[in-house]
Amino acid sequence: MVKETKSWSSRQKKHLLLKIVVPILLLGIAYRLFIVSDPVQPSPATPLTDDIPPTESDPSDFNDEDEGPPLPDDKCDLFSGEWVPNPSGPDYTNDTCPFIETHQNCMTNGRPDSAYLYWRWTPHDCELPKFNPVKFLKLMRNKSWALIGDSITRNHIQSLLCMLSKVDKVVEVYHDEEYRSRRWSVPSYNFTISVVWSPFLVQAAIFEDMNGVSTSEVELHLDKLDKKWVHMYQNLDYMTISSGKWFLKTSIIYENDKIVGCHNCPGKNLTEYGFDFAYRKALRTVLKFIATSNHKGMIFFRTSTPDHFENGEWFSGGTCQRKEPVKEGEIEFKELNQILRKVELSEFRKVKSIASQNGVNLKLLDVAPLSLLRPDGHPGPYRHFYPFAQDKNATVQNDCLHWCLPGPIDSWNDVLMEMVTNG
Ligand SMILES: *[C@@H]1O[C@H](CO)[C@@H](O)[C@H](O)[C@H]1NC(C)=O
Ligand SMILES: *[C@@H]1O[C@H](CO)[C@@H](O)[C@H](O)[C@H]1NC(C)=O
Ligand SMILES: *[C@@H]1O[C@H](CO)[C@@H](O)[C@H](O)[C@H]1NC(C)=O
Ligand SMILES: *[C@@H]1O[C@H](CO)[C@@H](O)[C@H](O)[C@H]1NC(C)=O
Ligand SMILES: *[C@@H]1O[C@H](CO)[C@@H](O)[C@H](O)[C@H]1NC(C)=O
Repeated sequence: MVKETKSWSSRQKKHLLLKIVVPILLLGIAYRLFIVSDPVQPSPATPLTDDIPPTESDPSDFNDEDEGPPLPDDKCDLFSGEWVPNPSGPDYTNDTCPFIETHQNCMTNGRPDSAYLYWRWTPHDCELPKFNPVKFLKLMRNKSWALIGDSITRNHIQSLLCMLSKVDKVVEVYHDEEYRSRRWSVPSYNFTISVVWSPFLVQAAIFEDMNGVSTSEVELHLDKLDKKWVHMYQNLDYMTISSGKWFLKTSIIYENDKIVGCHNCPGKNLTEYGFDFAYRKALRTVLKFIATSNHKGMIFFRTSTPDHFENGEWFSGGTCQRKEPVKEGEIEFKELNQILRKVELSEFRKVKSIASQNGVNLKLLDVAPLSLLRPDGHPGPYRHFYPFAQDKNATVQNDCLHWCLPGPIDSWNDVLMEMVTNG
């Protein structure tokens, strides 16, 4: 784990960014390994990708990246705490929940240790009751909720569906061709819950097959919202949005329908922008839209979650073999995750008061710090069914980005429920 306490100097940044240029070449192959999907429940992942040095000074207004405490608006900080032993274990298992994607179904896939299942997130300064599906559904009568984002968002909704389906019937009412955007209903409560595949949140043309192999750069419009979620925006009572790692991908950057530059495309004679530039600008478009809308529901902006590849990265044999959580302060965000986080927090902070002035209930769901403490919660090699059954020395692709279900992100629902109930 990278120990990195100082703020991010541009020299360090250059160094890191250069370091990850080489892996570009491996990208095609590694993608294939990492996100092979089965046809019924495809699982396109959000692999970590690569980058190239950005131009040193961003144009326009991209200078303010102040750091500071993220959320002064809550009574107590739900996001500062520790993982404490929870002998009663998870609320569901692979046997009781049909919604777990195979690649995150660590129990079924034969993950041998189970200690990672027996922890619960516990804030230092507040009571955090356990997620109560009946109470939750009562609050959700006649309501709709959409979770919008990438494959971590899908990971999250599956956790939520597992909990809800323990107490009531959950039926699928819609899915797109690739099973990336889906909608379910809990009929007895007239509650609708959707997952919307929008990994950039802004408009993006992605030329990638279901195996994650791209044939062309992403065409990324930083100033246009992704219609996929905007068309339903006004009708949602609750929504959770997040993004992050997809901005690491090679992309041609558009503004006002004109190419203004690109990310990671040497040889194209275009202005090179860092992924942080694109991410910042896209989030600004999204958050500004939300903050200045007249939305009457509750909107959660979820921070992106860190990966825990150790002794390598996802493309170079990195693994995550820990068996239990770590304590606050024991590990730090890796550099890449730090950059994404910094963008998220500063952009959120910028629109927070604008949202309040407009009566928009925009909240930060800052799951990154509590997720950071769970290096033990990823599938690792157990994204596949018994990966070592044939050869106990087999070399297998590890997933240290998504989360086992049941697993740590079940606690996100405790936090969400608390925020829904108590403001
Ligand atoms: C659930 O996982 C256990 C091992 O932890 C396994 O024995 C069982 O067959 C799995 N059930 C299903 C439905 O996959
Ligand atoms: C839900 O909608 C039905 C039909 O419109 C209505 O009768 C009922 O009172 C609503 N319940 C709540 C809790 O809003
Ligand atoms: C379900 O909820 C919607 C609002 O989301 C409401 O318009 C509709 O009348 C409700 N239907 C029933 C059967 O309660
Ligand atoms: C690169 O773009 C600039 C400005 O658009 C142009 O003047 C220059 O000729 C281009 N260079 C090449 C090699 O195409
Ligand atoms: C696995 O690796 C160990 C140590 O490197 C070796 O002793 C053993 O023979 C290998 N087993 C198989 C099945 O290849």
